[in-house]
Amino acid sequence: MLDNLGDFKRDYFAGELTENNIGDEVRLLGWADSVRDHGGVIFINLRDREGVVQVVVDPSKSPEESYEKAKKVRSEYVIGVQGRVQRRPVGTENPKIPTGNIEVVADKLLILNTCDVLPLPIEDSINASEEVRLKYRYLDIRRKPMFKNLLVRHEVYQATREYLAGHGFLEVETPMLTKSTPEGARDFLVPSRLEKGKFYALPQSPQLFKQILMVGGIERYFQIVKCFRDEDLRADRQPEFTQIDFEISFANEEDVISISEGLVHFIFKKVLGIDLKLPFKRITYKEAIEKYGTDKPDLRYEMELVDISDLASDVEFKVFNDTIKKGGIVKGLNIKKGAKFSRKEIDELTDYAKKFGAKGMAWIKISEGKMSSPITKFFTQEQQQKLKEKMKAEEGDLLVFIADSYETTHRVLGFLRKHIADKLKIIPEDRWDFLWIVDFPLVEWDEEEERFVALHHPFTSPKEEDISKLDSALEDKALASSIKSRAYDLVLNGEEIGGGSIRIHRPDIQKKVFELLGISDEEAEEKFGFLINALRYGAPPHGGLAFGLDRLIAIMVGADSIREVIAFPKTQKGNCPLSNAPDYVTEEQLKELGITVELEEEPS
Ligand code: AMO
Ligand code: AMP
Repeated sequence: MLDNLGDFKRDYFAGELTENNIGDEVRLLGWADSVRDHGGVIFINLRDREGVVQVVVDPSKSPEESYEKAKKVRSEYVIGVQGRVQRRPVGTENPKIPTGNIEVVADKLLILNTCDVLPLPIEDSINASEEVRLKYRYLDIRRKPMFKNLLVRHEVYQATREYLAGHGFLEVETPMLTKSTPEGARDFLVPSRLEKGKFYALPQSPQLFKQILMVGGIERYFQIVKCFRDEDLRADRQPEFTQIDFEISFANEEDVISISEGLVHFIFKKVLGIDLKLPFKRITYKEAIEKYGTDKPDLRYEMELVDISDLASDVEFKVFNDTIKKGGIVKGLNIKKGAKFSRKEIDELTDYAKKFGAKGMAWIKISEGKMSSPITKFFTQEQQQKLKEKMKAEEGDLLVFIADSYETTHRVLGFLRKHIADKLKIIPEDRWDFLWIVDFPLVEWDEEEERFVALHHPFTSPKEEDISKLDSALEDKALASSIKSRAYDLVLNGEEIGGGSIRIHRPDIQKKVFELLGISDEEAEEKFGFLINALRYGAPPHGGLAFGLDRLIAIMVGADSIREVIAFPKTQKGNCPLSNAPDYVTEEQLKELGITVELEEEPS
């Protein structure tokens, strides 16, 4: 029953046909998007990558054979049509589709393949579960929004290559089977068959290799590259994701920032037709934390954190003044129009704050000209007035407060700020708020591990003026914490879309930073001896950055998860429902690798 394709060729994509084609004989190939039998005349919407056009099979105009075939066509059959383009009869136009004024009267119809009953409708908006969408990803990708996402992604690749190659960057590939790269996540390991007991690590980023390329005199490197990190997955995190990674020799912060801005500007212009305003805003890490409670603030809305510590130390409220006595702080948020929140909603906010480590959340409503709250009684009239001024409080506002350590207070208020903005739907769409975060601390104290950890990676250079602090930093926590790094992150609409730094290019400084991070000479030698070695042979000063390509594209297309812009992503649990990876392997394969596996449960 099926036809062969033979030498039947398409002249046009369905979506390319316009009224200019009226009278043309055309050949089309694609899928039967829908089939309607209108009392003798059969209408098939033929869909391909570029769109849909209506095909008419009319027993009075089309050959008998074609008509008989058309009766057999069902949804998602693969078909070929040869026919003449005509204007649709008056009154039958369909303004909903771009080809709605025309149709193709079939002379010849090919049925190239059939299709089983669909587990997933091929429609723009569907409510199928993500599991089903990923299992039948090939059907999901036939849907226009998915195709559009992949198209934008393709255009971003092309624009990236055009811009960076045009600015003297060389595309160089770096290994996927390699050694661990310390970006702060767990490694994915690949066992070696030739050397049993040894493992490759999949790269968390090409960091070490791109630095080595600079030592190799490449000067300007870039790569659109897969990175692998075994970490807990979220909407903006996949175990394998893609970076636009680049590195420049003889560069300072301004050089890297300027190339990054130029690239993003080029991509937005080329792909979305949007002219971003350069340069992007910059704020320091400290300012970001203290004003917004996060190092990736969303500046599309205001709601800044207000420090009321000086006031809090004087009020009778024990929670506040005890916190200050213990060296903590008290900060608040003014939620505009928040006074309308019910008690239940405020309790929900409190629970939300507790999820992020708060001990509680104090609140004050400003309504009917006065402050109402369980804690107003602890404030004198004068203190209430002061509080109002500090918080810029007006009728209808809800003020919320967290009293805790510097870190916890900011973290909790940072999450609350975002949560409330989402809840109140005050985040404007179609805005692109780019923001550089600069002046990061080089290290931060990890309470659990009781050691300093790098805020970026261990190859990030301290600021030149802070290098001398490295000598006594180990004995002096405050001094160590005051060392600033030459790192920068790029934030877009509250998401970190890129990060990088000027690197350490001198072995002596690298050694000192390893010492500060509690990495012994042996450990450094064993883990990244190859980089340290390379630094000994005339390493030029260098620096670079990596964009999270998936995140950038997700924001560009307005997707709420990066899974929407990756052809074959993993689920939250790290599975691929399409291929069923990860999966068990045979005893024989394990034996060859010298591996025995202790299963937590029997393979099913
Ligand atoms: P960093 O670790 O900040 O830097 O990564 C760069 C960017 O990659 C994105 N990203 C992710 N996207 C999706 N899923 C993930 N699991 C994930 N992890 C990170 C983020 C992030 O900003 N080698 C350094 C770069 C450099 O210093 O040049 C690095 O990898 O958008
Ligand atoms: P309590 O005295 O524990 O009944 O708390 C009185 C109010 O203060 C309640 O609304 C608590 O949620 C709030 N509260 C308790 N601890 C804190 C804190 N660390 N920061 C802000 N508010 C708190």
